[in-house]
Amino acid sequence: MSLVMAAAAVLPSCGAFGAPTAAAAAATTPPCTWSRRRRRALSPVVAMASAAQVRAPNKKPFAPPREVRRPVTHSLPPQKREIFESLDPWAADNILPLLKPVESSWQPQDYLPDASSEAFVDEVRELRARAAEIPDDLLVCLVGDMVTEEALPTYQTMLNTLDGGVRDETGASPTSWAVWTRAWTAEENRHGDLMNKYLFLTGRVDMRQVEKTIQYLIASGMDPKTETNPYQGFIYTSFQERATFISHGNTARHARRHGDAALARACGAIAADERRHETAYERVVGKLFEVDPDYTARAFADMMRKKVAMPAHLMTDGRDEDLFARFSAVAQRLGVYTARDYADIIEFLVRRWGVADLTGLSGEGRRAQEFVCSLGPRFRRLEERAHHRAKEAQFAPFSWIYDRQVQL
Ligand SMILES: [Fe+2]
Ligand SMILES: [Fe+2]
Repeated sequence: MSLVMAAAAVLPSCGAFGAPTAAAAAATTPPCTWSRRRRRALSPVVAMASAAQVRAPNKKPFAPPREVRRPVTHSLPPQKREIFESLDPWAADNILPLLKPVESSWQPQDYLPDASSEAFVDEVRELRARAAEIPDDLLVCLVGDMVTEEALPTYQTMLNTLDGGVRDETGASPTSWAVWTRAWTAEENRHGDLMNKYLFLTGRVDMRQVEKTIQYLIASGMDPKTETNPYQGFIYTSFQERATFISHGNTARHARRHGDAALARACGAIAADERRHETAYERVVGKLFEVDPDYTARAFADMMRKKVAMPAHLMTDGRDEDLFARFSAVAQRLGVYTARDYADIIEFLVRRWGVADLTGLSGEGRRAQEFVCSLGPRFRRLEERAHHRAKEAQFAPFSWIYDRQVQL
Protein backbone atom coordinates (compact mmCIF):
# COMPACT_ATOMS: atom_id res chain seq x y z
CA MET A 1 0.00 0.00 0.00
CA SER A 2 1.22 3.43 -0.85
CA LEU A 3 2.00 6.06 1.71
CA VAL A 4 -0.80 8.19 0.35
CA MET A 5 -3.33 5.44 0.60
CA ALA A 6 -2.38 4.93 4.20
CA ALA A 7 -2.49 8.64 4.82
CA ALA A 8 -5.88 8.95 3.25
CA ALA A 9 -7.04 6.22 5.50
CA VAL A 10 -5.97 8.17 8.51
CA LEU A 11 -9.04 9.95 9.70
CA PRO A 12 -9.30 11.31 13.18
CA SER A 13 -11.59 10.17 15.74
CA CYS A 14 -12.36 10.79 19.15
CA GLY A 15 -10.37 12.31 21.56
CA ALA A 16 -7.13 10.85 21.86
CA PHE A 17 -7.60 8.70 18.97
CA GLY A 18 -7.80 9.69 15.47
CA ALA A 19 -9.04 7.81 12.42
CA PRO A 20 -8.70 5.39 9.45
CA THR A 21 -6.16 2.77 8.99
CA ALA A 22 -4.19 0.93 6.48
CA ALA A 23 -6.35 -2.09 7.13
CA ALA A 24 -9.44 -0.15 6.17
CA ALA A 25 -7.81 1.07 3.01
CA ALA A 26 -6.44 -2.30 2.11
CA ALA A 27 -9.82 -3.88 2.56
CA THR A 28 -11.30 -1.81 -0.24
CA THR A 29 -9.96 -2.35 -3.68
CA PRO A 30 -11.44 -1.34 -7.00
CA PRO A 31 -13.54 -3.96 -8.79
CA CYS A 32 -11.24 -6.44 -10.48
CA THR A 33 -12.88 -5.89 -13.85
CA TRP A 34 -11.42 -2.40 -14.07
CA SER A 35 -8.53 -1.90 -16.39
CA ARG A 36 -5.12 -1.35 -14.88
CA ARG A 37 -5.07 2.08 -16.43
CA ARG A 38 -8.33 3.05 -14.80
CA ARG A 39 -7.10 1.78 -11.46
CA ARG A 40 -3.97 3.90 -11.83
CA ALA A 41 -6.03 6.89 -12.87
CA LEU A 42 -8.01 6.90 -9.65
CA SER A 43 -6.55 8.58 -6.63
CA PRO A 44 -5.85 6.19 -3.79
CA VAL A 45 -8.60 7.89 -1.84
CA VAL A 46 -11.19 7.38 -4.53
CA ALA A 47 -9.99 3.90 -5.28
CA MET A 48 -10.07 3.07 -1.63
CA ALA A 49 -13.66 4.03 -1.25
CA SER A 50 -15.13 3.10 -4.54
CA ALA A 51 -15.65 -0.62 -4.33
CA ALA A 52 -18.91 -1.17 -6.08
CA GLN A 53 -20.27 -3.89 -3.83
CA VAL A 54 -21.00 -3.49 -0.17
CA ARG A 55 -19.32 -6.40 1.50
CA ALA A 56 -21.00 -7.97 4.50
CA PRO A 57 -18.98 -8.45 7.66
CA ASN A 58 -17.78 -11.92 8.50
CA LYS A 59 -20.19 -14.16 10.30
CA LYS A 60 -18.40 -14.73 13.59
CA PRO A 61 -20.44 -12.90 16.24
CA PHE A 62 -18.75 -9.86 17.81
CA ALA A 63 -15.56 -10.36 15.81
CA PRO A 64 -14.07 -7.35 14.02
CA PRO A 65 -15.27 -7.01 10.40
CA ARG A 66 -11.82 -7.86 9.18
CA GLU A 67 -8.85 -9.72 10.51
CA VAL A 68 -6.67 -7.85 12.99
CA ARG A 69 -3.04 -8.91 12.74
CA ARG A 70 -1.37 -10.52 15.69
CA PRO A 71 -0.17 -7.58 17.76
CA VAL A 72 3.27 -6.97 19.23
CA THR A 73 2.92 -6.25 22.95
CA HIS A 74 5.11 -5.26 25.90
CA SER A 75 7.94 -3.85 23.81
CA LEU A 76 9.03 -1.42 26.55
CA PRO A 77 12.51 -2.48 27.71
CA PRO A 78 12.68 -3.45 31.43
CA GLN A 79 15.17 -0.66 32.21
CA LYS A 80 12.59 1.94 31.14
CA ARG A 81 9.80 0.74 33.41
CA GLU A 82 10.63 3.28 36.11
CA ILE A 83 10.57 6.36 33.90
CA PHE A 84 6.88 7.15 34.12
CA GLU A 85 6.79 6.50 37.85
CA SER A 86 9.61 9.02 38.29
CA LEU A 87 7.68 11.49 36.13
CA ASP A 88 4.51 11.25 38.23
CA PRO A 89 5.17 14.54 40.14
CA TRP A 90 6.03 16.21 36.81
CA ALA A 91 2.71 15.03 35.37
CA ALA A 92 0.88 16.41 38.42
CA ASP A 93 2.41 19.84 37.78
CA ASN A 94 2.32 19.89 33.98
CA ILE A 95 -0.48 17.64 32.73
CA LEU A 96 -3.23 17.64 35.32
CA PRO A 97 -3.60 21.47 35.21
CA LEU A 98 -4.72 21.05 31.58
CA LEU A 99 -7.91 19.37 32.77
CA LYS A 100 -10.91 21.62 33.31
CA PRO A 101 -12.76 21.45 36.63
CA VAL A 102 -16.16 19.82 36.18
CA GLU A 103 -17.98 22.84 37.55
CA SER A 104 -16.55 25.12 34.85
CA SER A 105 -16.73 22.56 32.02
CA TRP A 106 -19.31 22.83 29.28
CA GLN A 107 -21.93 20.11 29.22
CA PRO A 108 -23.92 18.78 26.25
CA GLN A 109 -27.06 20.38 27.68
CA ASP A 110 -25.46 23.83 27.16
CA TYR A 111 -25.75 23.24 23.39
CA LEU A 112 -29.12 21.46 23.25
CA PRO A 113 -32.78 22.39 23.69
CA ASP A 114 -33.88 22.03 27.32
CA ALA A 115 -36.47 19.24 27.51
CA SER A 116 -37.84 20.64 30.78
CA SER A 117 -38.61 24.01 29.18
CA GLU A 118 -41.93 25.00 27.66
CA ALA A 119 -39.96 26.28 24.71
CA PHE A 120 -38.51 22.81 24.05
CA VAL A 121 -40.76 21.91 21.14
CA ASP A 122 -40.17 25.27 19.43
CA GLU A 123 -36.42 24.97 19.97
CA VAL A 124 -36.39 21.50 18.45
CA ARG A 125 -38.39 22.78 15.51
CA GLU A 126 -35.80 25.53 14.96
CA LEU A 127 -32.95 23.03 15.29
CA ARG A 128 -34.58 20.81 12.67
CA ALA A 129 -35.11 23.72 10.31
CA ARG A 130 -31.42 24.63 10.54
CA ALA A 131 -30.32 21.00 10.21
CA ALA A 132 -32.47 20.59 7.09
CA GLU A 133 -29.85 22.65 5.27
CA ILE A 134 -26.95 20.35 6.16
CA PRO A 135 -25.93 18.41 3.05
CA ASP A 136 -25.78 14.63 3.19
CA ASP A 137 -21.99 14.48 2.86
CA LEU A 138 -21.50 16.66 5.93
CA LEU A 139 -24.11 14.61 7.75
CA VAL A 140 -22.08 11.46 7.00
CA CYS A 141 -18.96 13.15 8.42
CA LEU A 142 -20.84 14.19 11.56
CA VAL A 143 -22.21 10.69 12.07
CA GLY A 144 -18.79 9.09 11.48
CA ASP A 145 -17.19 11.47 13.97
CA MET A 146 -19.95 10.83 16.48
CA VAL A 147 -19.67 7.06 16.16
CA THR A 148 -15.93 7.37 16.67
CA GLU A 149 -16.42 9.46 19.81
CA GLU A 150 -19.02 7.01 21.12
CA ALA A 151 -16.48 4.17 21.08
CA LEU A 152 -14.77 5.84 24.05
CA PRO A 153 -14.67 2.66 26.18
CA THR A 154 -12.22 1.27 23.63
CA TYR A 155 -9.90 4.27 23.96
CA GLN A 156 -9.88 4.22 27.75
CA THR A 157 -9.11 0.51 27.53
CA MET A 158 -6.27 1.25 25.13
CA LEU A 159 -4.69 3.72 27.57
CA ASN A 160 -5.07 1.17 30.34
CA THR A 161 -3.18 -1.47 28.38
CA LEU A 162 -0.03 0.69 28.34
CA ASP A 163 2.94 -0.55 30.38
CA GLY A 164 5.48 1.44 32.39
CA GLY A 165 3.24 2.41 35.30
CA VAL A 166 0.87 4.68 33.38
CA ARG A 167 -2.23 2.49 33.48
CA ASP A 168 -4.99 2.83 36.06
CA GLU A 169 -4.20 -0.31 38.06
CA THR A 170 -7.29 -0.35 40.27
CA GLY A 171 -9.85 1.74 38.39
CA ALA A 172 -9.42 4.48 41.01
CA SER A 173 -5.64 4.66 41.25
CA PRO A 174 -4.27 7.94 42.68
CA THR A 175 -1.26 8.22 40.33
CA SER A 176 -1.16 11.33 38.13
CA TRP A 177 -1.30 9.13 35.03
CA ALA A 178 -4.44 7.32 36.20
CA VAL A 179 -6.09 10.55 37.35
CA TRP A 180 -5.43 12.02 33.92
CA THR A 181 -6.82 9.02 32.06
CA ARG A 182 -10.07 8.96 34.03
CA ALA A 183 -10.60 12.72 33.80
CA TRP A 184 -9.66 12.72 30.11
CA THR A 185 -12.25 9.98 29.54
CA ALA A 186 -14.85 11.98 31.46
CA GLU A 187 -14.18 15.03 29.30
CA GLU A 188 -14.28 12.97 26.12
CA ASN A 189 -17.56 11.36 27.16
CA ARG A 190 -19.35 14.66 26.56
CA HIS A 191 -18.32 14.67 22.88
CA GLY A 192 -20.25 11.63 21.70
CA ASP A 193 -23.07 12.50 24.05
CA LEU A 194 -23.55 15.97 22.54
CA MET A 195 -23.20 14.86 18.92
CA ASN A 196 -25.51 11.89 19.43
CA LYS A 197 -28.30 13.96 20.97
CA TYR A 198 -27.94 16.69 18.37
CA LEU A 199 -28.07 14.28 15.45
CA PHE A 200 -31.04 12.46 17.01
CA LEU A 201 -32.97 15.73 17.25
CA THR A 202 -32.29 16.65 13.62
CA GLY A 203 -34.50 13.76 12.52
CA ARG A 204 -32.27 13.29 9.50
CA VAL A 205 -30.37 10.23 10.63
CA ASP A 206 -31.39 6.57 10.81
CA MET A 207 -30.57 6.31 14.49
CA ARG A 208 -31.01 2.55 14.64
CA GLN A 209 -28.33 2.05 11.99
CA VAL A 210 -26.06 4.55 13.76
CA GLU A 211 -26.58 2.87 17.13
CA LYS A 212 -25.84 -0.53 15.60
CA THR A 213 -22.62 0.91 14.16
CA ILE A 214 -21.60 2.08 17.64
CA GLN A 215 -22.37 -1.31 19.16
CA TYR A 216 -20.40 -3.10 16.43
CA LEU A 217 -17.46 -0.73 16.82
CA ILE A 218 -17.16 -1.10 20.59
CA ALA A 219 -17.45 -4.87 20.22
CA SER A 220 -14.72 -4.85 17.53
CA GLY A 221 -12.26 -2.68 19.46
CA MET A 222 -9.27 -1.18 17.72
CA ASP A 223 -5.66 -1.95 16.97
CA PRO A 224 -3.53 1.15 17.49
CA LYS A 225 -0.30 -0.84 17.00
CA THR A 226 1.29 0.86 19.98
CA GLU A 227 2.70 -2.43 21.36
CA THR A 228 1.36 -1.52 24.86
CA ASN A 229 4.41 0.73 24.90
CA PRO A 230 3.70 4.09 26.58
CA TYR A 231 6.20 5.95 24.38
CA GLN A 232 4.35 4.82 21.27
CA GLY A 233 1.01 5.18 23.05
CA PHE A 234 1.51 8.86 23.85
CA ILE A 235 2.90 9.59 20.38
CA TYR A 236 -0.27 7.97 19.02
CA THR A 237 -2.54 10.02 21.28
CA SER A 238 -0.68 13.25 20.42
CA PHE A 239 -1.33 12.54 16.76
CA GLN A 240 -4.94 11.58 17.25
CA GLU A 241 -5.89 14.50 19.46
CA ARG A 242 -4.53 16.87 16.86
CA ALA A 243 -6.37 14.98 14.12
CA THR A 244 -9.66 15.29 16.02
CA PHE A 245 -9.00 18.95 16.74
CA ILE A 246 -8.61 19.51 12.98
CA SER A 247 -11.66 17.48 11.95
CA HIS A 248 -14.09 18.88 14.53
CA GLY A 249 -12.84 22.38 13.70
CA ASN A 250 -13.51 21.74 10.02
CA THR A 251 -17.01 20.34 10.66
CA ALA A 252 -17.71 23.49 12.71
CA ARG A 253 -16.72 25.66 9.73
CA HIS A 254 -18.86 23.60 7.34
CA ALA A 255 -21.87 23.75 9.69
CA ARG A 256 -21.56 27.52 9.93
CA ARG A 257 -21.29 27.83 6.17
CA HIS A 258 -24.54 25.88 5.81
CA GLY A 259 -26.30 28.15 8.29
CA ASP A 260 -26.27 26.01 11.45
CA ALA A 261 -24.46 28.28 13.89
CA ALA A 262 -25.60 26.24 16.92
CA LEU A 263 -24.05 23.06 15.51
CA ALA A 264 -20.91 25.04 14.65
CA ARG A 265 -20.63 26.17 18.29
CA ALA A 266 -21.07 22.59 19.51
CA CYS A 267 -18.36 21.27 17.17
CA GLY A 268 -16.15 24.21 18.18
CA ALA A 269 -16.49 23.34 21.87
CA ILE A 270 -15.46 19.75 21.11
CA ALA A 271 -12.52 20.95 19.00
CA ALA A 272 -11.31 23.15 21.86
CA ASP A 273 -11.27 20.11 24.18
CA GLU A 274 -9.29 18.14 21.64
CA ARG A 275 -6.77 20.97 21.39
CA ARG A 276 -6.27 20.93 25.16
CA HIS A 277 -5.85 17.15 25.13
CA GLU A 278 -3.39 17.44 22.28
CA THR A 279 -1.33 19.89 24.33
CA ALA A 280 -1.24 17.45 27.25
CA TYR A 281 -0.06 14.47 25.23
CA GLU A 282 2.46 16.56 23.33
CA ARG A 283 3.88 17.77 26.63
CA VAL A 284 4.31 14.16 27.77
CA VAL A 285 6.18 13.21 24.60
CA GLY A 286 8.16 16.48 24.76
CA LYS A 287 9.27 15.47 28.26
CA LEU A 288 10.24 12.01 26.97
CA PHE A 289 12.35 13.66 24.27
CA GLU A 290 14.05 15.65 27.04
CA VAL A 291 14.84 12.73 29.37
CA ASP A 292 15.24 9.92 26.81
CA PRO A 293 15.71 11.41 23.32
CA ASP A 294 17.20 8.41 21.54
CA TYR A 295 14.51 5.89 22.48
CA THR A 296 11.74 8.47 21.97
CA ALA A 297 12.98 9.28 18.46
CA ARG A 298 13.00 5.56 17.65
CA ALA A 299 9.50 5.14 19.10
CA PHE A 300 8.29 8.05 16.96
CA ALA A 301 9.79 6.48 13.84
CA ASP A 302 8.33 3.06 14.73
CA MET A 303 4.87 4.52 15.15
CA MET A 304 5.09 6.41 11.85
CA ARG A 305 6.38 3.37 9.95
CA LYS A 306 3.31 1.45 11.05
CA LYS A 307 1.07 4.40 10.07
CA VAL A 308 -1.32 5.89 12.55
CA ALA A 309 -4.47 3.79 12.47
CA MET A 310 -7.63 5.69 13.12
CA PRO A 311 -9.53 4.61 16.21
CA ALA A 312 -12.68 3.70 14.29
CA HIS A 313 -10.90 1.71 11.60
CA LEU A 314 -12.97 -1.40 12.36
CA MET A 315 -16.27 0.39 11.82
CA THR A 316 -19.20 -1.45 10.25
CA ASP A 317 -22.98 -1.03 10.27
CA GLY A 318 -23.53 -4.77 9.91
CA ARG A 319 -23.93 -4.46 6.16
CA ASP A 320 -20.84 -2.68 4.91
CA GLU A 321 -17.46 -3.82 6.13
CA ASP A 322 -15.77 -1.01 4.22
CA LEU A 323 -17.87 1.63 5.92
CA PHE A 324 -14.86 3.29 7.50
CA ALA A 325 -13.05 3.63 4.18
CA ARG A 326 -16.14 5.18 2.60
CA PHE A 327 -16.67 7.57 5.49
CA SER A 328 -12.96 8.51 5.27
CA ALA A 329 -13.31 9.15 1.55
CA VAL A 330 -16.23 11.52 2.13
CA ALA A 331 -14.28 13.36 4.85
CA GLN A 332 -11.30 13.59 2.50
CA ARG A 333 -13.36 14.97 -0.38
CA LEU A 334 -15.11 17.47 1.85
CA GLY A 335 -11.84 18.60 3.42
CA VAL A 336 -12.94 17.62 6.92
CA TYR A 337 -9.90 15.43 7.39
CA THR A 338 -7.49 14.76 4.56
CA ALA A 339 -4.24 13.08 3.60
CA ARG A 340 -2.73 16.56 3.61
CA ASP A 341 -3.75 16.92 7.26
CA TYR A 342 -1.88 13.69 7.97
CA ALA A 343 1.29 15.18 6.48
CA ASP A 344 0.72 18.46 8.31
CA ILE A 345 0.34 16.70 11.65
CA ILE A 346 3.59 14.79 11.21
CA GLU A 347 5.44 17.99 10.31
CA PHE A 348 3.82 19.83 13.20
CA LEU A 349 4.89 17.16 15.70
CA VAL A 350 8.43 17.02 14.30
CA ARG A 351 8.69 20.78 14.86
CA ARG A 352 6.88 20.72 18.21
CA TRP A 353 9.32 18.17 19.61
CA GLY A 354 12.39 19.71 17.97
CA VAL A 355 13.26 16.38 16.37
CA ALA A 356 15.50 17.90 13.69
CA ASP A 357 17.66 19.58 16.35
CA LEU A 358 18.31 16.51 18.49
CA THR A 359 22.01 15.77 18.98
CA GLY A 360 24.01 12.97 20.53
CA LEU A 361 21.79 10.23 19.12
CA SER A 362 22.91 6.67 18.42
CA GLY A 363 23.13 5.45 14.83
CA GLU A 364 19.64 4.01 15.08
CA GLY A 365 18.41 7.21 16.70
CA ARG A 366 19.83 9.30 13.86
CA ARG A 367 18.19 7.06 11.27
CA ALA A 368 14.88 7.46 13.11
CA GLN A 369 15.39 11.23 13.20
CA GLU A 370 16.08 11.40 9.47
CA PHE A 371 13.11 9.18 8.71
CA VAL A 372 10.51 11.19 10.63
CA CYS A 373 11.91 14.50 9.34
CA SER A 374 11.53 13.26 5.75
CA LEU A 375 7.96 11.99 6.14
CA GLY A 376 5.96 15.20 5.94
CA PRO A 377 7.36 16.30 2.57
CA ARG A 378 7.10 12.72 1.24
CA PHE A 379 3.43 12.41 2.16
CA ARG A 380 2.75 15.84 0.77
CA ARG A 381 4.30 15.04 -2.63
CA LEU A 382 2.37 11.78 -2.91
CA GLU A 383 -0.86 13.43 -1.84
CA GLU A 384 -0.43 16.19 -4.42
CA ARG A 385 0.23 13.68 -7.17
CA ALA A 386 -2.85 11.67 -6.16
CA HIS A 387 -4.94 14.82 -5.96
CA HIS A 388 -4.14 15.71 -9.57
CA ARG A 389 -5.14 12.23 -10.71
CA ALA A 390 -8.49 12.19 -8.89
CA LYS A 391 -11.10 12.93 -11.53
CA GLU A 392 -13.82 10.33 -11.50
CA ALA A 393 -16.77 10.80 -9.13
CA GLN A 394 -17.86 7.71 -7.21
CA PHE A 395 -20.96 7.35 -5.04
CA ALA A 396 -22.02 4.96 -2.30
CA PRO A 397 -25.12 4.54 -0.15
CA PHE A 398 -24.89 5.13 3.60
CA SER A 399 -27.36 3.31 5.85
CA TRP A 400 -26.93 6.12 8.43
CA ILE A 401 -28.94 8.39 6.13
CA TYR A 402 -31.45 5.86 4.82
CA ASP A 403 -29.19 4.58 2.03
CA ARG A 404 -29.03 7.87 0.20
CA GLN A 405 -26.07 8.03 -2.18
CA VAL A 406 -23.16 10.26 -1.23
CA GLN A 407 -20.19 11.17 -3.38
CA LEU A 408 -16.97 9.65 -2.10
FE1 LIG B 1 -9.71 14.32 22.75
FE1 LIG C 1 -13.29 13.65 21.44
